[in-house]
Amino acid sequence: MERKGFNSSFGMIMAAVGSAVGLGNIWRFPYIVGTNGGGAFLLIYVLICIVIGVPILMSEILIGRRAKSDAVDSFKVLAPGKKWYVSGIIAVLASFLILSFYSVVAGWSLEYIVKSVGNEFAGKNPDQIADLFTSFISSPVKPIVWTFIFMLITMLIVKAGVEEGIEKVSKFMIPLLLVIVILLGIKGISLEGGKEGLKFMFYPDFSQFTMEGFLAALGHSFFTLSLGMAIMTTYGSYVSDDEDIVKSAFKIAFFDTLIAILAGVAIFTSVFTFGLDPSQGAGLVFVTLPNVFPVMPGGYIFGIAFFVLLALAALTSTISLLETSVAFGIDTLKLTRKKASIIAATGVFLLSILSSLSNGGVSFLQVGDLSFFDFLDKLTANYMLTVAAFIEILFLGWFYNKSEIYDELTNKGRIEQKAFKAYYTAIKYIAPVAMVLIFLSSIGVLKSA
Ligand code: TRP
Repeated sequence: MERKGFNSSFGMIMAAVGSAVGLGNIWRFPYIVGTNGGGAFLLIYVLICIVIGVPILMSEILIGRRAKSDAVDSFKVLAPGKKWYVSGIIAVLASFLILSFYSVVAGWSLEYIVKSVGNEFAGKNPDQIADLFTSFISSPVKPIVWTFIFMLITMLIVKAGVEEGIEKVSKFMIPLLLVIVILLGIKGISLEGGKEGLKFMFYPDFSQFTMEGFLAALGHSFFTLSLGMAIMTTYGSYVSDDEDIVKSAFKIAFFDTLIAILAGVAIFTSVFTFGLDPSQGAGLVFVTLPNVFPVMPGGYIFGIAFFVLLALAALTSTISLLETSVAFGIDTLKLTRKKASIIAATGVFLLSILSSLSNGGVSFLQVGDLSFFDFLDKLTANYMLTVAAFIEILFLGWFYNKSEIYDELTNKGRIEQKAFKAYYTAIKYIAPVAMVLIFLSSIGVLKSA
């Protein structure tokens, strides 16, 4: 089967950044930092990104480009007759589950575009703004309608094919989003709670850090870099053979982290300015920033622009999430793109109804003490992505031919790759050992000293 590639190197980076940058950066990252105590978590998170996240990102791109196939089939191409493709199956399943709660949050961003246009935040105090959010997400129908609209748009783009869709949207969206979060961050710092917000985010107070923080940091580094789901494998299969995989991976991780940190600055400065709770969880961005827009010059337009960009950032990610299931449908199940898109999107939407309702619409959708929504969020990021990624690097580091990896990373010897040794050590020893330790500590086997 012929695979269409990206038009340009910039296009590939932008599409991959488009997949990486999304609700994970602006919605999930700040709330995870907040619930895990701030600066110490941030530090651990950045370290984990560099030592584990980036090498795995390289690995996924490498596997996809080598095999020129999707998550599941790539492993069958590289290791015929072996069971490694199981990681691809976890990956496809994870992309499906993530999309089912992710599209709910994406739907919230659409509602918030409408709320900003209607100037609904003006003149409200922080409590009223929080009520606005709570009553919206717990209403039974409205969030589901938005989720439906969002999934429909995603499906139409994925149905049309890869490069036309993703590359075009990402190319203008990411730079714009960057500008917006920079301006929001600057505004945040100038607010009354600016200093306190910065301190919360950047001062590593380890008394606030728990062992679960490691797993949350690991899980989020995969979530935000779109790892463990073979999305980057699917994208890697479209990457040109001239691309430097190592450089691309660093660029992707850099932009992704930059946007997340700027969003964090904007959010925590306003948390402390308006007397909100940093650890309140998944609603954080929706109850903080709407307090800031009304006190900003040009805040009306700015608020609209922010939520439009949030929706677009979510869109480039939902595209990549759906693309994983669709590529599986096309390459492994031999469906047409159209059929695969429609079937996958419908399945995801049905599941997302449950996620949405579990935010208050109906009370019985709980798993343990978590809502179904929070349960899926934790299950996928902390367990499914990590396990799938673990299998991927075990395969590359211990069972795949080192010289083939070298060959692929040096573009068949056409470019020099000084980082090869560091990369190989990371995926063969450092990352797997660190991941096992993090797992053991999270289930309480390793007690903190
Ligand atoms: N990385 C995206 C974000 O931060 C979400 C996402 C898109 C994702 N594709 C993924 C997460 C693949 C895990 C795997 O919003």
